[in-house]
Amino acid sequence: FNLLSSKPILTIFRASGAEWSMNYTQQEICALNGSTVFMNGTFTHPEQLTVKKSFWAIDPVKNVEPNDLSKDPNYSGRVINLIDKRKFYLKLSNVTKKDEHRYCFRIITNKPDQKWLGKPEVTLQVTELHVESPGEVTEGQSVNLTCKTTCSLTDPTFIWYKDGRPLTTEMIQKNQQLHLQTVSSEDAGSYSCAVRGSEHLPSTAQTLRVRHPPKSVSVSISPSGGIVEGSSVNLTCSSDGDPPVEIYTWFKEGGDSPVGSGHSYVPLQSGSYYCQAQNQHGTQRSAAVSVLIKGNIYKI
Ligand SMILES: *[C@@H]1O[C@H](CO)[C@@H](O)[C@H](O)[C@H]1NC(C)=O
Ligand SMILES: *[C@@H]1O[C@H](CO)[C@@H](O)[C@H](O)[C@H]1NC(C)=O
Ligand SMILES: *[C@@H]1O[C@H](CO)[C@@H](O)[C@H](O)[C@H]1NC(C)=O
Ligand SMILES: *[C@@H]1O[C@H](CO)[C@@H](O)[C@H](O)[C@H]1NC(C)=O
Ligand SMILES: *[C@@H]1O[C@H](CO)[C@@H](O)[C@H](O)[C@H]1NC(C)=O
Ligand SMILES: *[C@@H]1O[C@H](CO)[C@@H](O)[C@H](O)[C@H]1NC(C)=O
Ligand SMILES: *[C@@H]1O[C@H](CO)[C@@H](O)[C@H](O)[C@H]1NC(C)=O
Repeated sequence: FNLLSSKPILTIFRASGAEWSMNYTQQEICALNGSTVFMNGTFTHPEQLTVKKSFWAIDPVKNVEPNDLSKDPNYSGRVINLIDKRKFYLKLSNVTKKDEHRYCFRIITNKPDQKWLGKPEVTLQVTELHVESPGEVTEGQSVNLTCKTTCSLTDPTFIWYKDGRPLTTEMIQKNQQLHLQTVSSEDAGSYSCAVRGSEHLPSTAQTLRVRHPPKSVSVSISPSGGIVEGSSVNLTCSSDGDPPVEIYTWFKEGGDSPVGSGHSYVPLQSGSYYCQAQNQHGTQRSAAVSVLIKGNIYKI
């Protein structure tokens, strides 16, 4: 029976017993922002009574007749109230922080002095998921990411995403934590979490930065081919590394001492050149490239 209709309820519910009683299945509910919440319960009432009306209300005040939640504009379109024999429930959709109240079920019967309000009420708390992360780590260290909530969800299974893709279960997950052991530069990225069954309500993403030495270091030649006549060839060193590489050193193969420094280098002689990229976490050299210079590049 959907009691949202304004027609008077004339059905005689067979929820009768010797006396009044009303219980809620859960007294405290922790729900994800945006999710749908059920508040369930059972009741009995003295046999001779007929239920005339029943509804849910929030934050009841002693000696004040509570208001029907389904008529509250703040809950418009989000409330479904069902009653079936001894059972009743409230289905509340799209919950937000503003729905954090005490909820109770009200029954009004054919006898004006025979009403019932189910107390203690159901307390609703609404939480967001939030990834707690140190933000940055150095390669080789281990790191724990935590999927935080502000209240305790019932039996949650947490799921983790990296750059929007679900992480495989090979990763060590325990409760709401993701353990990343011996972090490498591939672990850098954007992490978010969700609860199984509510994958459409994930946390916002948190970036994990992994400080690491330069890895892929390479030299590009301009003009390509490395054979120039009468004009200069320009070598440019590129690399990853976090923090970004700021120290580049150039070598000519066969020689021990550097021939130049800086992001790019203009060789004066033919030969094989390579660069070395360095940040505070380490140094890495590139493969060598061959340069053939014909003629006099100083020709004016
Ligand atoms: C809760 O979800 C709604 C959308 O359903 C969103 O507008 C709101 O910002 C969220 N609340 C918080 C605290 O993030
Ligand atoms: C409440 O009732 C609804 C509808 O019958 C059901 O889907 C849900 O699992 C129930 N929840 C609890 C906690 O009993
Ligand atoms: C409510 O709980 C009390 C105590 O646990 C129990 O005696 C009573 O039968 C319950 N009432 C209903 C309607 O389930
Ligand atoms: C609706 O919510 C707002 C803010 O939470 C509150 O000030 C207002 O009293 C509520 N309206 C009703 C009818 O309860
Ligand atoms: C609940 O949220 C969904 C998705 O954000 C939206 O499509 C729907 O209209 C909302 N329903 C109500 C009753 O606010
Ligand atoms: C990660 O959590 C585990 C267990 O909770 C703990 O033993 C370990 O020290 C933590 N590691 C870091 C880097 O905090
Ligand atoms: C070499 O190339 C780099 C990158 O394209 C450029 O920044 C630099 O000015 C060039 N140097 C010379 C001498 O052409």
